[in-house]
Amino acid sequence: MCGIFGCVLNEGDAAPLVREGLKRLEYRGYDSVGVATVWDGKVFVKKDVGKLDEVHAKLNLDDLPGCVGIGHTRWATHGAPEQVNAHPHTDCTGEVAVVHNGIVENFVELKRMLEQKRHVFRSRCDTEVIAHLIEDELKKAGSLIEAVRRALREVKGSYAIAVVHAKHPDRIVCARLESPLVIGLSSRGMYCSSDIPSFLHLTRRAVFLQDYQVAEISLNGVRVYDLITGKEIPYEVQQLDLSEEAAEKSGYPHFMLKEIFEQPQAMKNALRTHELYYDLMAPALANAKRVFLTACGTSYHACVAASYALSELGGITAQPVIASEFINYVGPAVDEETVVLAVSQSGETADTLSAVRFARSKGATVLGVTNVMGSSLTRLSTVYIGQNSGPEIGVAATKTFTAQLTVLLRLAMKVGLRTGTLSQESYEGLSERLLAMPDYAAKVLETVDERVKLLASKYADRQSFCFLGRGISSATAMEGRLKLLEIAYIPCLAYPAGESKHGFIAVVEKGYPTVFVAPNDSTRTKIIGNIMEMKAREASVISLIEEGDREIAEFSDDYLEMPKGIPEMFTPLIYVIPLQLLAYYISVYRGYDPDKPRNLAKSVTVQ
Ligand code: F6R
Repeated sequence: MCGIFGCVLNEGDAAPLVREGLKRLEYRGYDSVGVATVWDGKVFVKKDVGKLDEVHAKLNLDDLPGCVGIGHTRWATHGAPEQVNAHPHTDCTGEVAVVHNGIVENFVELKRMLEQKRHVFRSRCDTEVIAHLIEDELKKAGSLIEAVRRALREVKGSYAIAVVHAKHPDRIVCARLESPLVIGLSSRGMYCSSDIPSFLHLTRRAVFLQDYQVAEISLNGVRVYDLITGKEIPYEVQQLDLSEEAAEKSGYPHFMLKEIFEQPQAMKNALRTHELYYDLMAPALANAKRVFLTACGTSYHACVAASYALSELGGITAQPVIASEFINYVGPAVDEETVVLAVSQSGETADTLSAVRFARSKGATVLGVTNVMGSSLTRLSTVYIGQNSGPEIGVAATKTFTAQLTVLLRLAMKVGLRTGTLSQESYEGLSERLLAMPDYAAKVLETVDERVKLLASKYADRQSFCFLGRGISSATAMEGRLKLLEIAYIPCLAYPAGESKHGFIAVVEKGYPTVFVAPNDSTRTKIIGNIMEMKAREASVISLIEEGDREIAEFSDDYLEMPKGIPEMFTPLIYVIPLQLLAYYISVYRGYDPDKPRNLAKSVTVQ
């Protein structure tokens, strides 16, 4: 997730307005920033690493000539946060400048093809291929918009882009596919942006560009075309009726809820990580003598789930270890034949980094999964995968958990292919199912939200909860517990359900809310037994079941139905969603701010 902004003005300089617009988009990314303007037949660019105010203090971003400009605030996906990787990106001639929010999935292939045509690349950023593709197409196309349209037909992935050209100084061409792009119209000028808060102070008249649409904005107005056919399309101008704050949260009352609802897209973005990284990691994991997974908090729960998947799909044993215990617990076993896979959204969690540094000092191979390119974890890992979730503003991890897990599941499948646990055919079948998971997540969000709200109002005043699951669902249960605990301040328990009779059962009494994660998988028969044990002690059973599972529904005081057909190892991706919502709504019912739970920080950099 990055932020892009562009403007074409009647008079005055574009650069200060672009900077102001980017300031309002910093919630979308803030590791580097850049602005390009067009003036006197030339493109002028300033860009660097750092937050907008830092870069502005250093470079004076306002000091760029011209009344047409584009800008970008970055959350790195391809290429570390370095000056050369910051946007805007230019072509070989320096006449085309592009800003981009999204991921070019086939950039390796496109770059290779363009290099064969003697294009010279300066960055490691996927976006640069778009600038060179446009340069090529301009040799054949009659206009900038036609060149952009033809270039984008080569691109696989997601994008919202804005393009300027030195020889077309009066316009911006923009386009979208799966990344947001909105155009603002005013008498002073025209704007294009990733999100409306960036221009609400300038205009309330907007056109929402749709997927596969490309637009040209100039002082003559806006023209929208179909990206595939090139035909002009009529559009509707909407009058926006939103406060600036509500607009920033896309109308959601809290960032946490917005981020829960962003999960289908976050999972899709995670699936866009290039095959190459998995191909590097899988042999290391498959051939290692010992594999440890290490992380803290929610990322640790992703590791617990991944350890089941690595066993079931990957055919290897990978032990999840809480990072703060890593050295004392498994330290003596770590050596050159060990692989440590560290998972950290921020890439800066002190306990995780300490485990990683220790592992490196023992000669182990360190692999990383993180959301922050350029973080310490990326620097300490031999190979790392960026999960592409964009910034998560709510302190409680939600979309970054399901994105991490998406990456880890794909990795487990790759390992399985390597070890022979999965045949090519079953690997391909599962890959297809994994690609469908974002749609399942969208369906669950659509169907359970209202019901979870009701459940939350029913149970909001309870003093304690317990979450139980078996197999990989025990990781889902642990994550459900952590969410409720940290944002609603309710002491909660979580167990692999079979363990519940070895102690927890002593505290169960009439009405004790016990949440069962009970998909229709290999654990179902046994979990029914555990549900009966709790029912016999008059617990209030809340179960997450597969759609149509009448048997468990009848044993439950309340239940939520999940779609049919989710492979067992993928269930945490979907079953965790109602648990995130339950925690969110209970927190709100209790009058707390779920975005800022007390005593917690987004990135814990102390040990
Ligand atoms: C829980 C949460 C924390 C983090 C933990 C690790 O909602 O956000 O438990 O998961 O602090 O953080 P990262 O993944 O940045 O290492």
